[in-house]
Amino acid sequence: MDTDRCPSGSCPVPGGGVTRRQFLSRAWWVAGGLLVAEVAGGLVVSLWPKAKAGAFVTKISVMSLQEARAMPVGTVAYFTEQRLYISRVESGLLALYRKCPHLGCVVPWLPDDPTEDDLAQRGRFNCPCHSGIFDRYGLVHGGPPPRPMDVFPITIEGDEVVVDTGNPIQRSRFDESQVIEI
Ligand code: FES
Repeated sequence: MDTDRCPSGSCPVPGGGVTRRQFLSRAWWVAGGLLVAEVAGGLVVSLWPKAKAGAFVTKISVMSLQEARAMPVGTVAYFTEQRLYISRVESGLLALYRKCPHLGCVVPWLPDDPTEDDLAQRGRFNCPCHSGIFDRYGLVHGGPPPRPMDVFPITIEGDEVVVDTGNPIQRSRFDESQVIEI
């Protein structure tokens, strides 16, 4: 190539091929396109598994059937990570969401407080935010909560007590359909 007449390599190539400048320009476009595709693909991959994982972890085995049957009536067990209580009532087990139905505070179980039901001598839920009081069925006995504590669907699967923590159920009263017999 005559570099005096084509100093930047932009002269047409005999036979209809591309010049060096055209080649470099296209190479930059291709590299840029690949970079954008890689970034977009990475975003999709990083977001997709989280959405799927959330869908998979809602049903959780909290104890064996044997352990559940060993709970005396009136016992309340706290599952911190699952954010729920298992309350042993007369007819079976109730899974109570720890989130207060008033403004969402975490409701602690206080085993030494006076009882609000006839299942045991002592123990009740007492929300520290506005003194919402609940019994072992999650029913309101004082304070501003507008409804009982929410419950989770609970089932027996094989030898395991399984709670579906992805589906808290609001309710206006207690009925036996909320309990799983053991
Ligand atoms: S948030 Fe529990 S009583 Fe208000």
